[in-house]
Amino acid sequence: MKKIIPLVILLMGFGSIIFFSSCNKTGTVQAPGSVTKQSFGTLPGAPEVNLYTLVNHSGITLKVTNYGCRITSLLLPDKNGKCADVVLGFDSLAGYLSNNPYFGAVVGRYGNRIAKGKFEIDGNQYTLAQNNGVNHLHGGLKGFDKVVWTAEDFTTANSVGLKLHYLSKDGEEGYPGNLNIEVTYTLTDDNQLIIAYKATSDKATPINLTQHSYFNLAGAGDIKAHELMIASSKYTVVDSTLIPTGELRDVKGTPYDFTTVKAIGKDLIATGGIPIGYDHNFMLNTKGLSDLAVRVVEPVSGRTMEVYTDQPGVQFYTSNFLDGTITGKYGRVYTQYSALCLETQHFPDSPNHPAFPTAILKPGETYLTTTIFKFSAK
Ligand code: BGC
Repeated sequence: MKKIIPLVILLMGFGSIIFFSSCNKTGTVQAPGSVTKQSFGTLPGAPEVNLYTLVNHSGITLKVTNYGCRITSLLLPDKNGKCADVVLGFDSLAGYLSNNPYFGAVVGRYGNRIAKGKFEIDGNQYTLAQNNGVNHLHGGLKGFDKVVWTAEDFTTANSVGLKLHYLSKDGEEGYPGNLNIEVTYTLTDDNQLIIAYKATSDKATPINLTQHSYFNLAGAGDIKAHELMIASSKYTVVDSTLIPTGELRDVKGTPYDFTTVKAIGKDLIATGGIPIGYDHNFMLNTKGLSDLAVRVVEPVSGRTMEVYTDQPGVQFYTSNFLDGTITGKYGRVYTQYSALCLETQHFPDSPNHPAFPTAILKPGETYLTTTIFKFSAK
């Protein structure tokens, strides 16, 4: 007995090292259950830009930078323990500074579009940048994806995490109110990435924060064979500039029906649009965090991602605008359908649609919302 126990402990330790190193592409060995911080470059007049590496006890490595609150890398084992980086991004800060598809960022103050950059609250008119054709997109010219957040890492008995903070000043990008924001990433040992958002404002303001990671659960190729389920029976119909017309249309009999599992490529062409692909907000049937909102399975690796959220919608985007002009990590050229985004959110342009759930945060209220990405492989 005495001999068996140390042997078991040795084997357990050895096993976890093998599993861990199989999911570590950088060659640096970091202890499970730890967070490390390294410099990721500097920006004039801004706090230090760092890259945080979070390793849980179950073989997942997550990298986050406080520039734009961005997830830069997510190393996930497949069903055989083989590792792949399942998010698009860059190795260096320079990559993020010179390219603009919001890779891995938290976008805001208002994620997605506001028609013509205009809205009204309590009789006051506000004008924001028209940075996407005639519309306002993802917070404007310098949204939350392009600012440096302050960050503090933490560990608990069964998780590793990073808490980020940013004060968006009254009038920043045209939005009203000093908005104090906290975003917490928690990676648990049962492979959940919990993203908790909290904010308060001293003036009524629209707010719609979301996580803009581009996932490819194969770590290569395109996402057409990924199998998708979205618990949504209606989507918001959009005009040619991707602004909702106000119509909530039944997905039944349309390419937008993912109520039962379907390969993303199956009806992709039938979506039409310029460029062709999914870039739509789905109204979720779910009633809160305990209901499964989305499931994506990559059939070859078995990697699976489930999304749970308390938000009313999710933007499903198949990276239609990636056109081969960006080269990211591992020298990979990013083209259409290289990845998919699942941006849990309020409906686009909701400040101009009184019938949509409201996204206005008032003074004295606290904006609190959580989205969970849960990973497994079978
Ligand atoms: C939008 C796309 C946009 C993309 C930018 C998505 O959230 O829905 O239309 O091109 O973000 O990266």
